[in-house]
Amino acid sequence: MKYDVKLCELVRTAEIAADTYDFTVRAPELAAAAKPGQFAHIYVPGRTLRRPISICDIDRENGTLRFVFQIRGAGTADLAKFKVGDSLDILAPLGNGFSVEPGKKALFVGGGIGVPPLLGAAKHYGENAVVAVGFRSADYAILTEDFKAAGCAVRVATDDGSLGHHGLVTDLIRDVQPDIICACGPMVMLRAVAAYAKENGIRCEISLEERMACGIGACLGCAVELYDEKGEIYMGHVCKDGPVFAAERVVL
Ligand code: FES
Repeated sequence: MKYDVKLCELVRTAEIAADTYDFTVRAPELAAAAKPGQFAHIYVPGRTLRRPISICDIDRENGTLRFVFQIRGAGTADLAKFKVGDSLDILAPLGNGFSVEPGKKALFVGGGIGVPPLLGAAKHYGENAVVAVGFRSADYAILTEDFKAAGCAVRVATDDGSLGHHGLVTDLIRDVQPDIICACGPMVMLRAVAAYAKENGIRCEISLEERMACGIGACLGCAVELYDEKGEIYMGHVCKDGPVFAAERVVL
């Protein structure tokens, strides 16, 4: 895997939903190497461990990377205070991303802050993608316009019915009949999506990025049971072996 550490200028920041920030950095070399679904380690001054943040979008033409993250603790709260013109110390691209096969029909299923890592891959499918995303409420809804701008058909669900379908995002996927499903979000959602894919013989990739803490194999907080080629269970790490896995490899 080819990764690098770079000091990257922050060129755009926005708070796009409750406690949710959208950063774009100038990082031509990292953008050239990154694949959708991979993540970055961002150094936050005063914190021992870098923060793992998924790559939301890659713009090779303009040499930028986009990160959309939610404040989850003191580290991400400090990160949110960075301003345009500041430099971010970024180690990227890390981990395994999504397979991208333009021309096939893809279904993307995202929940909450699991939605951002799907955008880069969904853009490659454009009109051949259906994107089903679920949020707690309208206040937490993110990136729906970005998926639409890429040509994807967007379906939205919220837990409280304040936007789109009142219910589960998995209520919105049964008529799609895709060649591939890519999903990222809470474990309960991933379980339902993987079961649906298996029942219907659809290839499925899931990103377990929500399960990462340190992101560098130091905390063991991301241990995950995986199946090897013989179907035997072994312990893997989301940060090193993932975050994207073929759904059938993960003990869900
Ligand atoms: Fe800490 Fe993987 S996130 S070991």
